[in-house]
Amino acid sequence: MRFLASVVVLGLAWSQAFYHGYCGSCHLPNARGVPGLYPPLQSLGGYLCRVEGRRYATRVVLYGLVGPIEVEGMIYRGTRYMPSFGALLDDETVALILNDLLRLLHRPYPAFTATEVKRYRSPRATPNDMFRERGILLNTLPRPPCGQL
Ligand code: HEC
Repeated sequence: MRFLASVVVLGLAWSQAFYHGYCGSCHLPNARGVPGLYPPLQSLGGYLCRVEGRRYATRVVLYGLVGPIEVEGMIYRGTRYMPSFGALLDDETVALILNDLLRLLHRPYPAFTATEVKRYRSPRATPNDMFRERGILLNTLPRPPCGQL
């Protein structure tokens, strides 16, 4: 029993290892962020059931983002930037990170695959482009289409 329990605990830790390794230092291991510095990712979870939201989240990881943005009533001025991971990570790893995020945010939506990530790589973008894409997303879907938790 004890052996089984440790396997389960290890499994849980491992299951979010990609998020923790690449994102947790800024957005924190629980994805709640640091007010005014690193935005929380909870509200983004409400977009991950829809292709528009999945595309945006993936492309922010690939191409970065520079604000100012408003998240949950707080302004993030873009003095801290969201790094781009697209040159560093392959599609499979980006999918693993995003799947960790789905689990962390308790969003039981279809898993990201390398094929899906690859599709969103095009067209290439800069952090400023991603700022514009964020505006378009929020214009199209002003409220999280999959609800708030
Ligand atoms: C070096 C710190 C840092 C790291 C590492 C980092 N981020 Fe960010 N992230 C930011 C900052 C800062 C912003 C807000 C950008 C701004 O204010 O211009 C942001 C914004 C975002 C957004 C946009 C949120 C929204 O509401 O539009 C998403 C999505 C995101 N990050 C996901 C991730 C994921 C997933 C990872 C891991 C692959 C990650 N970030 C790693 C600093 C970081």
